[in-house]
Amino acid sequence: MTQDEMKKAAGWAALDYVTPGTIVGVGTGSTVNHFIDALGSIKDQILGAVSSSEASTARLEQLGIRIFDLNDVSELAVYVDGADEIDGSMAMIKGGGAALTREKIVAAVADRFVCIVDGTKTVDVMGRFPLPVEVIPMAREYVARELAKLGGKPVYREGVITDNGNHILDVQGLQITEPKALEARINAIVGVVTNGLFAERGADVLLIGTPDGVVRKGA
Ligand code: 5RP
Repeated sequence: MTQDEMKKAAGWAALDYVTPGTIVGVGTGSTVNHFIDALGSIKDQILGAVSSSEASTARLEQLGIRIFDLNDVSELAVYVDGADEIDGSMAMIKGGGAALTREKIVAAVADRFVCIVDGTKTVDVMGRFPLPVEVIPMAREYVARELAKLGGKPVYREGVITDNGNHILDVQGLQITEPKALEARINAIVGVVTNGLFAERGADVLLIGTPDGVVRKGA
């Protein structure tokens, strides 16, 4: 089974967590693209979606799914998104696709976060995948120096501008044993918009695509 087939299995399994007649929170990435395709198959049963990126919005609209502005939505029953790494406490590193800030905002509104991954994304300790940090462009080098003081090696993701007009630093070499504390510490650096640690608001449900089927964790 290929990695993409595992992503597809997890993406389609997430349909089980979508309640008919509701607006669905939709993340970003190649695994979520499979979920969006799945959502297209039940598009007449949902009101629409709140999207976390321009890329997901385009794919949702192509399938005829109505997009709602988050400011017009007070409740989301579920948010479905992928992850770059997820640990045993359901904390995640996200932002490989540079959509971390909008993802974190939509996830904050949702009652339930369903994380969909292939079997390569589960880890004991996060940090092998570089931690993305979205920064205000003029603060990039200052934030990089502050991140280096925390023991990481920040690398500017050249050529990438986020949907919010900002830059991304990818922090290599971290061993993230206390994700909530590190999430708060990095967010406290002036010039940081968001960091890709989703620990304070982790996943509630984890769907892992594996060659033996989809493994489900959480509720
Ligand atoms: C985008 C994300 C994605 O969820 C994460 O990068 C996983 O992507 P993929 O499903 O393509 O492996 O956080 O900002």
